[in-house]
Amino acid sequence: MAVSTHRRPAPSIRAHAPGRVNLIGDHTDYTGGLALPMAIDLGTTVSGERSGDKIVLRSDAEAEPAHLPLDVREARLVEPPWARFVAAVVEQVRPAVGFTGEVASSLPLGGGLASSASFTIAVALALGATTEPLALSRLAQEAEHRAIGVPCGIMDQLAITGGVAGHALLLDCQELTVAPVPLPAEVNVLVLDSGEKRRLTGSAYAERRAQCAAAEAEIGPLRRATDADVTRLQDEVLRRRAHHVVTENQRVRDMASALAASDVVAAGELMSASHASLRDDFEVSTDRLDHLVASLAETPGVYGARLTGAGFGGCVVAVARPGAVPWTTPVRAVDGASITVSPR
Ligand code: GLA
Repeated sequence: MAVSTHRRPAPSIRAHAPGRVNLIGDHTDYTGGLALPMAIDLGTTVSGERSGDKIVLRSDAEAEPAHLPLDVREARLVEPPWARFVAAVVEQVRPAVGFTGEVASSLPLGGGLASSASFTIAVALALGATTEPLALSRLAQEAEHRAIGVPCGIMDQLAITGGVAGHALLLDCQELTVAPVPLPAEVNVLVLDSGEKRRLTGSAYAERRAQCAAAEAEIGPLRRATDADVTRLQDEVLRRRAHHVVTENQRVRDMASALAASDVVAAGELMSASHASLRDDFEVSTDRLDHLVASLAETPGVYGARLTGAGFGGCVVAVARPGAVPWTTPVRAVDGASITVSPR
């Protein structure tokens, strides 16, 4: 009997994860608060095939490839540094076979558009992680904690896995629910890069998170706190941090209502108020971000602008009448992360 030794080539894999821009609701997710991001038409694509017994990934943005065994441990110690995210995914997915492929990203790195969450989710899908949005989000969040030790919340991952074209996403980071909110047809969402790379984000982010936890130890969950609760805080810094979170949660609710009612003027005012709160109470803005937001606020046809994401540099988001800022291309709200497996 003739025995065929022909083996079928491994199917080709293409995993894509969008980035996200947060319209409002920053530094609220890690106290179980609300946020209103959307998945955008910039993102990370991982393509390649599942074969061999190693993970080998090349990136258009990195000189050295990520080259890892399937039983990699201690993600935080892996070199080169970008491979730590890959290792932290491998530690959790533990794929039975290797993967060889490439990474391409259209997101500015460290620009406040969740480039690392987008990368982590695209890698996780390529390596065979679950496609169930909440479980995938948790896996990617844990990978980020393991890879770089930044105690990020879950907003980025929920937005990236839960994206709906043409919609912002009302996230409840306690209940872990995602409710799509249609974007009014007559506005553009603009993202402007301040050009300032984030500095000290890790430690400053962890410090803000610890301050919120300290406030909660005195007055209970910020998610349910009132203005009166906040005034009970003795420490002036903690009082301002808590004030930001409590007022920002309310602004998210109001923004979702304003967008649903196509009230773009109210939406813009809420964004400006959010920026002021992040600047004065939460202290995560920079001079460059403040100037960019101020110049946008003076531009006819711009309804509102604010820093987006963690702050300390990165991008500004604005809502504007189409054509109001002709030198920027608007971002579009797109569907969430996906994977395609095609036979060769
Ligand atoms: C980063 C984190 C998120 C969130 C934002 C601030 O993007 O990854 O979890 O905390 O900062 O809103």
